[in-house]
Amino acid sequence: MAMTQTQLLHELEPVVAGELDRHNAMAKEWFPHEYIPWSEGRDFDGVYGGEAWQDSDSKLPEAARVSLIVNLLTEDNLPSYHHEIATTFGRDGAWGTWVGRWTAEEGRHGVAIRDYLTVTRAVDPVALERARMTHMEAGFATEYGTMLEQLAYVSFQELATRIAHRNTGRASGDEGCERLLARIAADENLHMLFYRNLLKAAFELDPNQTMRAVTDVVKTFQMPGSSIEGFTRKAMIIAHEGIYDLRLHLDDVLMPVLKQWSVFDKTGLDASGEQAREELAEFLAKTETTAARFVERRAERKARAAQR
Ligand SMILES: [Fe+2]
Ligand SMILES: [Fe+2]
Repeated sequence: MAMTQTQLLHELEPVVAGELDRHNAMAKEWFPHEYIPWSEGRDFDGVYGGEAWQDSDSKLPEAARVSLIVNLLTEDNLPSYHHEIATTFGRDGAWGTWVGRWTAEEGRHGVAIRDYLTVTRAVDPVALERARMTHMEAGFATEYGTMLEQLAYVSFQELATRIAHRNTGRASGDEGCERLLARIAADENLHMLFYRNLLKAAFELDPNQTMRAVTDVVKTFQMPGSSIEGFTRKAMIIAHEGIYDLRLHLDDVLMPVLKQWSVFDKTGLDASGEQAREELAEFLAKTETTAARFVERRAERKARAAQR
């Protein structure tokens, strides 16, 4: 018999409490202001009568700028994410404590990245503010209706944001930017561990239902910023630069997490669980083909560009 959502939340509560202790022991306090080169800052036009931003102010390559904007707008949508997870996980007991802690940690990310971009004049602050308004007004609503699906989604999503932040830092060619994004990526990794361990526990409680949730999420996974205006074009630039692409998604996000859950070594699944696992295997095989083709085409595009 499949467990109900309420039963699962109840049974997982002690695991949440244990993971919270582990998280709090591992998480290091850090301060956004220490990562910002304030002495590089100068007044903008408007109230202080300084100089308006112009394109030549930015030292960062185009792809890094695009990626920083996507990452920041994604972090900016925190009120929506908080709403989604608080609605599913609840605000009481260990679950509630985690929701609060996670939200507070995530809040630091948007603050730090925005300060960095503004002080270093890395991106157009007017365009950024307008994009933030549009993105936050639209908000974010999860397409996943169950707690297990949401747990599976955030396990992959936290790791995806870790990779995206880390590789954006590298692509920036800017030591300060890389240091800040590596710091943020370390937070995302701890978030991933939390959710991944919880879902591992859910596999013990109800393997068939959990397998179905994992399969459905892997097959439909979208980055949390996918509702950003012009996302398709931005994602192409980000993929072309190797900051985040299907190859990385498969090799560095999906496979390591699935391996940690021992998805393909699980025994004792019923017919529904086996069916879900087969679908997952088929989807991963198809994704492997698409990822390999993408990498080939990208290499061809780069070779052509180098000849010009
Ligand atoms: Fe974050
Ligand atoms: Fe996170």
